[in-house]
Amino acid sequence: MEVVIVPDAKAGGELIAEAMAALVRRKPDALLGVATGSTPLPIYEALAAKVRAGQVDASRARICQLDEYVGLPAGHPESYRAVVLREVVEPLGLSEASFMGPDGSAEDIVGACEAYDRALAEAGGVDLQLLGIGTDGHIGFNEPCSSLASRTRIKTLTEQTRVDNARFFDNDLDQVPHHVITQGIGTILDARHLVLLATGEGKAEAVAQTVEGPLSALVPASALQLHRHATVVVDEAAASKLKLADYFRHTYADKPSWQGL
Ligand code: PGA
Repeated sequence: MEVVIVPDAKAGGELIAEAMAALVRRKPDALLGVATGSTPLPIYEALAAKVRAGQVDASRARICQLDEYVGLPAGHPESYRAVVLREVVEPLGLSEASFMGPDGSAEDIVGACEAYDRALAEAGGVDLQLLGIGTDGHIGFNEPCSSLASRTRIKTLTEQTRVDNARFFDNDLDQVPHHVITQGIGTILDARHLVLLATGEGKAEAVAQTVEGPLSALVPASALQLHRHATVVVDEAAASKLKLADYFRHTYADKPSWQGL
């Protein structure tokens, strides 16, 4: 796993947006897996700026979603479909046809999960999957003790995650769904390149356990240790509990491996 320590969230966003732009230049119809939450927003802003400036033509890129709430009415502004269309698809100038995600309002949720895993495979697999990390170490909505081999399926959110996400629902915990569809950890590990961004001190413990702790279902993000090309981009605050921070600084800061790809 490579760990790139950047000064702040904006620098992390810029670095990752450039990696995505480089991928799209190399493979114009790349399938880009995106994540929701606050952390990746600087990535989307930086990538959209590159598109507007003509530095990359993303018109053939395809976007897929990591997870989705179950039970929100179709079109709810906080459904992850709506969020990804608003934050990623539209700013990149793409149409809804370029986007795929699990159907959280399906009557047959189990069938919808299987259909999404199949659709990802039929689309040729995810080229680059962005990830955030929960304060409890989750990736996607794979909460602690998720199977490290899991596929897309329905999960129950922990109270911690519901509290963390209440800010998107007028700080009203009652409005936060209890259930979600999430790509499984095994599904996530199928992507060709995993890029996790974590910023702020609140993520420092989860980052340290992910990078330096044992592989453990208790810290689902530690499954990145199993992937042959996983990159963790952290700001100084999120890096503050890493024992090997100095090693990562002089090894990767100037030249993340993707620059040679
Ligand atoms: P955040 O969410 O970026 O809003 O902190 C990350 C996550 O829960 O995966």
